[in-house]
Amino acid sequence: MDPSLADLSQAFVAGSWIETARTFPVRSPATGTLLAEVADCSAKEARAAIEAAVQIFPAWQSATPYLRSDLLRKWREAILSHAEALARTMAQEMGKPLAEGRREILYAASFIDWYAEEAKRIYGETVPSQHPQKRIFVCYAPVGPVYGITPWNFPAAMVTRKVAPALAAGCPFVLKPAEESPLTALFLAKLWEESGGWPATFQVLPSSDPEALSAPFLDDPRIRKLTFTGSTPIGKRLYARSAATLKRVSLELGGGAPFLVFADADLGKATDGAITAKFRNGGQSCVAANAFYLQKEIAPAFLRLFAEKVASLRLGDPLEEATQVGPLVNAQGLAKVAELVADGRSRGAKTLLGGPIRGLFFPPTLLTEVPPDARILEEETFGPVAPLCLFESEEEALAAALRGRAGLAAYLWTLDLGRAFRFAEEIPYGIVGVNDALPSTAQAPFGGVRESGLGREGGKWGLAEYLEPQYLSLGLG
Ligand code: SIN
Repeated sequence: MDPSLADLSQAFVAGSWIETARTFPVRSPATGTLLAEVADCSAKEARAAIEAAVQIFPAWQSATPYLRSDLLRKWREAILSHAEALARTMAQEMGKPLAEGRREILYAASFIDWYAEEAKRIYGETVPSQHPQKRIFVCYAPVGPVYGITPWNFPAAMVTRKVAPALAAGCPFVLKPAEESPLTALFLAKLWEESGGWPATFQVLPSSDPEALSAPFLDDPRIRKLTFTGSTPIGKRLYARSAATLKRVSLELGGGAPFLVFADADLGKATDGAITAKFRNGGQSCVAANAFYLQKEIAPAFLRLFAEKVASLRLGDPLEEATQVGPLVNAQGLAKVAELVADGRSRGAKTLLGGPIRGLFFPPTLLTEVPPDARILEEETFGPVAPLCLFESEEEALAAALRGRAGLAAYLWTLDLGRAFRFAEEIPYGIVGVNDALPSTAQAPFGGVRESGLGREGGKWGLAEYLEPQYLSLGLG
């Protein structure tokens, strides 16, 4: 049976569902309705979670990979059998349209699927030695208990993308979900428990005070790894604080992806791709296209097709089947989008498509003639606004792709393979989508360079983040 939202109000600490002294409200961004009063964890619960994670670690790391794999597989099946309820939970707590929520659950489950398999393939290595009387062996051990902080924009997939490889590697995981979307994370923890997941291997501590909750984890030397998805300024602070205990750190930070369309692109596919890259999750994705650069000769044709497709997007109640774009997650997010649009317009940008803002619903918006100094070209918008600029030469396109300090994703649309490779090699981005607006997938490395982060999630790279090589040198005597 699916839990009600009210059943998802307790924290999951040391294998028990607990109440806390205080609670905080979770509201629907679409209607403002109160969905649940959720346990508000503090340093006290953090300390209890640390002790539990430290205690379970030796047993969990010694459990056979087959056992860990089997539990992960059961968790995945439980998630898939509650897919509809999970999609509804996300629609309610953070406004993701149902159809997208269903896709996210499949995406979330695909990480568990992948790492349930990878658990059994954490192979060691032997290395030829230069010394005839020595042999070199390398084994991989789990890094230890992990503290993770996940964002609200993908409340299920960002949890499984971190937790599944950690559990597969043998690391207990303590999660602080985003304040806006704790219910999905608590739902996932319930399913882990129901699948036979060992107590304290996965704990969930919602909190309205991330700093106070995080401090004990960051300062405790027994927590060996921090993994965070969120903004660049917060990522930097967490990185600095983790230095005192020399934790392994993975940071998946801000994006700001350029979307470049060359004159030889297939415009039908490029405009479909632009819809996906810009309007998936209402633009609230780290890999969302932030600014569009169109080669001058195809700009009118691209704009005509793109504007038709944007105009047909359905903005509305995330619980309605036909909705394609839901509300923004909160007033702060909406204010930022509105501010960037206002800045662009004050510098001369024109609104080709747009409309009135209602509540947290920001209409899909197209801005043309955006001048190079507009903030929206460089700052991450995290909303359904597409600013469009023109370029003439490949050099100008390259300069556009190089501006700013982000380095997560970039998109190129061209049928010239030579240009695609040349470009991809010249631009500092962790992910390059060539004629592909949705490169994210469980088997591939997701992550950025420059100010977009450290480390990778997904594929074998995501597992390596939770493993330490141990070198064993054998003297034959
Ligand atoms: C993100 O926005 O951080 C995740 C998006 C994705 O996995 O595609």
